[in-house]
Amino acid sequence: MSGLGFTRADWPEGFLFGVATSAYQIEGHAQGGAGRTHWDDFAATPGNVVRAENGALACDHLNRWAEDLDLIAGGGFDIYRFSTSWARVLPEGRGAANPEGLDFYDRLVDGMLARGLKPALTLYHWELPSALNDLGGWRNRDIAGWFAEYAEVLCRRIGDRVWSAAPINEPWCVGWLSHFLGAHAPGLRDIRATARAMHHVGLAHGNATQVMRGLGMGNLGAVCNFEYALPLSDSAEDIAAAKRYDGIYNRWFLGAMFKGAYPEDVLEGLGPHMPDGWQEDMATICQPLDWLGLNYYTCKRIAHAEGPWPHLSEHVGALPQTQMGWEICPEGLGHFLRFARDNYTVDLPLYVTENGMANPDTPDQPDTARIDYLRAHFAQAREAISEGVPLKGYIVWSLMDNYEWALGYEKRFGLVHVDFDSLQRRPKASYQALKAALAQA
Ligand code: FCB
Repeated sequence: MSGLGFTRADWPEGFLFGVATSAYQIEGHAQGGAGRTHWDDFAATPGNVVRAENGALACDHLNRWAEDLDLIAGGGFDIYRFSTSWARVLPEGRGAANPEGLDFYDRLVDGMLARGLKPALTLYHWELPSALNDLGGWRNRDIAGWFAEYAEVLCRRIGDRVWSAAPINEPWCVGWLSHFLGAHAPGLRDIRATARAMHHVGLAHGNATQVMRGLGMGNLGAVCNFEYALPLSDSAEDIAAAKRYDGIYNRWFLGAMFKGAYPEDVLEGLGPHMPDGWQEDMATICQPLDWLGLNYYTCKRIAHAEGPWPHLSEHVGALPQTQMGWEICPEGLGHFLRFARDNYTVDLPLYVTENGMANPDTPDQPDTARIDYLRAHFAQAREAISEGVPLKGYIVWSLMDNYEWALGYEKRFGLVHVDFDSLQRRPKASYQALKAALAQA
C-alpha cells in the first residue's frame, strides 16, 4: 500500500491516470512566434497579477518538452492532458498560421505517442489572442466562428493522433471569473459582458465540436469546473443564495451542453443581458458528447447579500485550507460525480480532469499535505465508482509548478518542483507516491 492508499488493482480494469498542464502556464509564450494574448495585456496592467508576472518564459516547456514528457511517462501515468495556444497557432487569432507553432504541437503529440501516453487535447485554456480581444473577445458573437477556424487549422494538423479533445477549459472561468468578477483576463466587471461571454463560450464549444466531428475525430468532451456551494447559515435566504451560486457556477453550462437549456434561476439575472436570438443557438451548444470532465478543488460558503442580482457574498469556512486559501472539502468531488451522472450525463463516461492543491513546497521537503489531499479525493472517486458512477479516469493538476494566473508563480500546484531561476525540475514526494501506486498491479 502506498501513501495514497491504493494500487491500480483497487480501480476498475482500464481506469486511467493522468496529469494536466496548460499552454500559457508552462510553454514560455514570448518564444516560438506566438502572438500576443489578453493574458500578456492583463498581466502588464498593475494590480492584476502578483508581481505583474506573466507567461513569457514560464517553465520553458517549449524547449524542455521532451524532459517533461519523460517525467510523465516515468511516473507511470497514462494520459497527458495538455492545451494548445490559439495565439501560437494563429498569432492574430485568424488568418495566417504560425508554422513553428503547428510544428511544435505536432512534435509534442508524437512525443506523447512515442512514450505510450494518451494525448488529451484542450483547445482553449484561457489565452485569447489580443487581436481578437480588440474586437470584443468573448463578448462578440463572431468569436464562435473564429474559434471554429482555429479548431479546424489545429485539428487538421494533430487531430488524427489525439486520444481525446475538449474545446474549452472551464467555461465558467472564461465567462464569469473573467467578465463578472474581473479576476482573470480581460478583467471586466460588467453583467452585460458576462451574459454574452457565458453564452458565446458555449456556442464556440458547439461549433468546435462540430468541426472536430467533421474531421472524423472521436472521444470529444467538455471540461467544466465545479465548486461545492454550501450556505453560510441555515437561514432560508442563505440557502437560496447558495442555490443561485450553484446555478451560475455548476448548472449553467451543464444545462446548456447536456439539455440545451439554461437554468431558469440563472436566467432570472442574466436573461435581460443576453444577446438577441440566443435561444436559437441552444441546439448548437448542445452537441452529442462522448464524456464529461470535472475539475474540482474546493467548496465555498455563500450568504445572502443586499444589492443587485445575484444578491450573494462568498465566504471561506473553517476547514483546513490550501496555499490558495481554498478549503479542503473532498466530499464535494463525490457530490459532483453523482450530481452530474444523476442529472445530466447518465451513463456517459466521466473523468476527473483536474484536482490537486497548491502548497508552499521547497525541493527538499516532502509534500505530504498534497499526498493527503489527493488520498482523500481519490477515496471519494472510488466511493462514487462503487455506487455505479461511470468514472473512467483521474487527472491530477498539475505535472509541475507553473504560472498560476493572477497569483503568478507563488502558488505551487506541481507534482514536480520547478526552480523558476534555473528551470530545474525535481519530482516531489507526491510524484513518487503516485509513481509507486501506479506501478503496483
Ligand atoms: C483551474 C485551471 C488551471 C489551474 C487550476 C489551479 O481552474 O484550469 O489552469 O489554474 O485551476
